[in-house]
Amino acid sequence: MHAQNLNAAQNPNSTSPSPASSSPASAGPTTASPPEPALAARNLHRVETRQRAATASAPKTMHAAKNDSYGGPHVVVTREVERPEVGPHDVLVRVHASTVTQGDRRLRAADYPGVLSVLGRLFSGVFRPRHPIGGSNFAGRVVQVGARVTRFAVGDDVFGSTMHGAHAEYLAVAESDSVAIMPARLGYAAAAVLPYGGGTALVFLRDMAQVRAGERVLVVGASGGVGRMAVQIARHLGAHVTAVCGSDAELMHRLGADEVIDYHCEDFTARRAQWDVILDTTEGDHFRKFRKVLSDTGRYLTLYVTPRVLLEMLATKLRGGPRALAGVALGSAERLVELGKLADAGVLGDVIAGRFPLRRAHEAHAFLEQVRPHGSVVIDVVGGSV
Ligand SMILES: NC(=O)c1ccc[n+]([C@@H]2O[C@H](COP(=O)([O-])OP(=O)(O)OC[C@H]3O[C@@H](n4cnc5c(N)ncnc54)[C@H](OP(=O)(O)O)[C@@H]3O)[C@@H](O)[C@H]2O)c1
Repeated sequence: MHAQNLNAAQNPNSTSPSPASSSPASAGPTTASPPEPALAARNLHRVETRQRAATASAPKTMHAAKNDSYGGPHVVVTREVERPEVGPHDVLVRVHASTVTQGDRRLRAADYPGVLSVLGRLFSGVFRPRHPIGGSNFAGRVVQVGARVTRFAVGDDVFGSTMHGAHAEYLAVAESDSVAIMPARLGYAAAAVLPYGGGTALVFLRDMAQVRAGERVLVVGASGGVGRMAVQIARHLGAHVTAVCGSDAELMHRLGADEVIDYHCEDFTARRAQWDVILDTTEGDHFRKFRKVLSDTGRYLTLYVTPRVLLEMLATKLRGGPRALAGVALGSAERLVELGKLADAGVLGDVIAGRFPLRRAHEAHAFLEQVRPHGSVVIDVVGGSV
């Protein structure tokens, strides 16, 4: 593994955001007291001028990494395509950094787990991808806003998640989607890696399991994209954290794990121990095996939704005792704001294991799949010589 950075890195590319552009609330028209007419007119003129300038400089075409068919990393090819149009509620983001995650790999290969195998194809395209430009996490700069946009202005640095389209020089997203002002202390790459694992860990540990301070949390697959964030979030919630992974004990301790178990050497279910929460990021139906090390009020959470775990969810809800919980974490702007605050506070960040320019996006996919790095895989869209 080639870890390059951890936690908040200064943003070398960002201009210091002005008060008007750094706060979503202050960017909109619904401030508590209306601005004076002259000031309002001046602000409007300034925004219009910035918009005209940015629109004129945004070309009609762009480079994007596409997969027109499902398959291995080789199906990803970087081409010139039309730049997305911007609707009245959209912002156009000049993407600076994106990531390649297990989620992107699944969409590229149409490799959907468990009960999602059929639904996934219906969603993404039965025979070929309905949206061939991949990429679900991004950080970049707003270069154009639709006429009705109120949360963002041209020049804002933003980050977020989307279902597709981030492996491209430009991305159009609705302002109501999962997009937020970038954490002030982070660079584009460090911001782009937050939404995937960070958002998932928040949904599962804080919202679904409602982890409380002092509880014992065990993360299975702690060295993975979700696991690394889960260790940090569990620690932030005040839990005692046990990380189960194949190696990288030192990294796990640095992220906040109190204890590390190497799954090659030890089966944690053989311990005479009890955990309040087990977050399982690995594939398979494990509830029956793991429940014996859960407390009576314990919660087993899996990212891998299968028919069996759906039945176990229902049965454990009715029967009492340790609960089984599964689900899918969707992006949300509010959650991004929380992740940004945690990153700015130095509580949350990720290791970057590999960086690739956009034209080598297929290599980024191969790196994720073949090297199985214990760190995020970043695509540098700007500064990576497209
Ligand atoms: N439901 C949702 O909303 C949601 C959201 C995000 C992701 N996901 C899914 O969650 C899964 C994990 O995603 P990810 O990005 O974290 O994957 P990842 O980066 O590939 O991480 C998986 C980790 O699990 C470790 N591992 C493998 N077998 C293990 C075992 N028996 N015990 C402990 N650790 C083990 C691996 O470590 P070694 O390399 O050392 O073996 C690896 O670091 C994927 O299937 C993804 O599609 C679901």
